[in-house]
Amino acid sequence: MIELAPSILSADFARLGADAQAAVEGGASVLHVDVMDGHFVPNITIGPPVVASLRKVSKVPLDCHLMIEQPDEFIPAFAEAGADWISVHQEACIHLDRTLHLIAAHGCKPGVVINPATPVNTLHEVLPLVHHVLVMSVNPGFGGQTFIPSSLKKIKLLSEIRKSRGLEFRIEVDGGIHHNTVAEVVRAGAQILVAGSAIFEHGAPRENARKLMKSALDAAKQFVQGISPAVTGGVAGDDGNSLSLP
Ligand code: DX5
Ligand code: ZN
Repeated sequence: MIELAPSILSADFARLGADAQAAVEGGASVLHVDVMDGHFVPNITIGPPVVASLRKVSKVPLDCHLMIEQPDEFIPAFAEAGADWISVHQEACIHLDRTLHLIAAHGCKPGVVINPATPVNTLHEVLPLVHHVLVMSVNPGFGGQTFIPSSLKKIKLLSEIRKSRGLEFRIEVDGGIHHNTVAEVVRAGAQILVAGSAIFEHGAPRENARKLMKSALDAAKQFVQGISPAVTGGVAGDDGNSLSLP
C-alpha cells in the first residue's frame, strides 16, 4: 500500500487547514508535520499548538517528524496535541530504545529517522520496535532540496531486512520527492511518500496530490508486474542523470 504524506512545511500557513484538507481530498492519507528546533537542524518551524489546530480540522493521521534535540522532553506535548505518529532521529537520541518506548507509552506509533549520512545498520536493534522507518533523502532542515540518489539503496536494504527478519515496519521517504523521483523510490520499496514543495509550492494542492499519487501508483503497479525501470525508460533526476538503483 502506497500512502502520500504531504509535508505542511511548504504550505501557506495563513491557510493551513484549507490547504491540508485539499491535499487529503487529492488522495493524501497522512499529514507530515516537520518540527525543527534551530539546534538539531538550522531552522525553526512549529510546535504542539499547530498540531492541536490541525487535529481539529483533519481526521487523517498526523505524522510528526521531530528534528529536535532531546525529543523526550517534547513527546508528551505532541501526543497530547493529537499526534498519531511520532518519529525521532537516530542521530539525536542517545537512548533511542527508551525514546521509542516513550512514544509508544504515550499512545503514538513510534518511528525512527536516519539522515543521508547514517547507515541502515545503526537501526538493527530497534527495527522490531518501530511502526515506520523514515529515510531522509535530503539533509533535514529545509523544503525544496534536491533528492539524494544514495537513499534508494537504503530503502531497498530496509525492504530486504524486513523480509528476512519477518518484521512489519513501514518504509517512509522524505525529501526531494517530485514527479521525476517518485517512481524510483516506490520501486525501491518506499510505501509512505513525504512531499512538500511538490504538493504546496505552486498552489493547487488537491490536483498536485492527485497527480503525484497517480505517478506513485503507476510505479507500484509496474513494480508488482515486474517491469524494470530500464524497460520503462528510467527516470531522470534534476541533474539529468538516471536515478537507477545502484
Ligand atoms: C526536510 C523535511 C521535509 C521537507 C520535504 O527537513 O523533513 O519533510 O519539508 O520537502 P520537499 O518535498 O520540498 O523536499
Ligand atoms: Zn519531514
